[in-house]
Amino acid sequence: MATTESPVLLTPGPLSTSTRTKQSMLRDWGSWDVDFNQITGRIRSRLLEIVYGDSTHECVPMQGSGTFSVEAAIGTLVPRDGHVLVPQNGAYCQRIARICRVLGRRLTTIDYAEDVAVSAADVDRELAADPGITHVALVHCETSAGILNPLQAVADVVARRGRGLIVDAMSSFGVLEIDARKTPFEAVIAASGKCLEGPPGMGFVIARREALVRAKGNCHSLAMDLYEQWEYMQKTTQWRFTPPTHVVAAFDSAIEQYLEEGGLFARARRYRENCRILIEGLKRLGLQSFLPLAIQAPIIVTFHAPPSPGYAFSSFYGAVKSRGYILYPGKLTTAETFRVGCMGQLGEHGMGGAVEAIHQSMQVLGISIAVAARAGG
Ligand SMILES: Cc1ncc(COP(=O)(O)O)c(C=O)c1O
Repeated sequence: MATTESPVLLTPGPLSTSTRTKQSMLRDWGSWDVDFNQITGRIRSRLLEIVYGDSTHECVPMQGSGTFSVEAAIGTLVPRDGHVLVPQNGAYCQRIARICRVLGRRLTTIDYAEDVAVSAADVDRELAADPGITHVALVHCETSAGILNPLQAVADVVARRGRGLIVDAMSSFGVLEIDARKTPFEAVIAASGKCLEGPPGMGFVIARREALVRAKGNCHSLAMDLYEQWEYMQKTTQWRFTPPTHVVAAFDSAIEQYLEEGGLFARARRYRENCRILIEGLKRLGLQSFLPLAIQAPIIVTFHAPPSPGYAFSSFYGAVKSRGYILYPGKLTTAETFRVGCMGQLGEHGMGGAVEAIHQSMQVLGISIAVAARAGG
């Protein structure tokens, strides 16, 4: 249940985890211990199964937040003289572009507005115009606004042009289908504390086996070398450097619960339903979502700030927090917004409880009450 001591996180990771997941962190593990290494092995094979990649790909876990794995994937899989095309429609695409600049990989971007999905035709045009581009890096669900980018169409174009596709699937993995048998990719990257509902602390890269083997020696970094991490793990079953043992154990439990729930389709159904209740509920309160529904991923929803003189995000946040829910600030440059995640364990009142907390907060703060009463009546 939502309480102010342990509020429900309406955020895209860290998110609210189940009691069972939290309880699985109560035990300590030795990083060399065979039982712990079996957990790592189980996680790796289950993550591969989620994308049907067991015969073609390898799962390489990496310590750290999601960005560490994105950086490890770019730094390892893109050769030092490689060239990355980043279609960008939000902050996480921009972060990939920044990683390329920092790592000294050649970069081309295609720039979109924050409410426009990436176009596969644009990617095709760039690849045709520049045969030197070796990789395309696509963010599947751009969490800044919540946009779903057209992965399959972009993957088809990239494969037809014979280049490599690196997918940041941080906030889609496990909920929006990615099938390695029909969607060609060199790497898909995600992390423990997102749609699989573990705690934050480890990421992972699902990398095409030949690409990983070819990547030996590419990486600029010792700790972020995905190839070295993989090779060591294959040889020893252990992590190369100290693993986040409690996070790994809890992630294993979270994946077990994901499978018990019914896997991808069941989780997608739950998140879609959360998304529907949220958008419809806040619409009744007079709050408009930012994106057209056709490109809205059921992961996180951006709302326009209420057009009310009484509104300030900090007091709105505080009022909602005092009712047991944590909102997420907006991340757009073009409009004042706030965000609400559809993911994680939302407690006994579910998304309806969050909508009610937002409603009460608006009433208390005197925000758009006239609109709310009209819409609700
Ligand atoms: C699309 C996307 N990429 C990457 C990240 C990684 O961010 P972090 O390093 O903070 O986990 C996130 C986090 O929310 C994300 O949504």
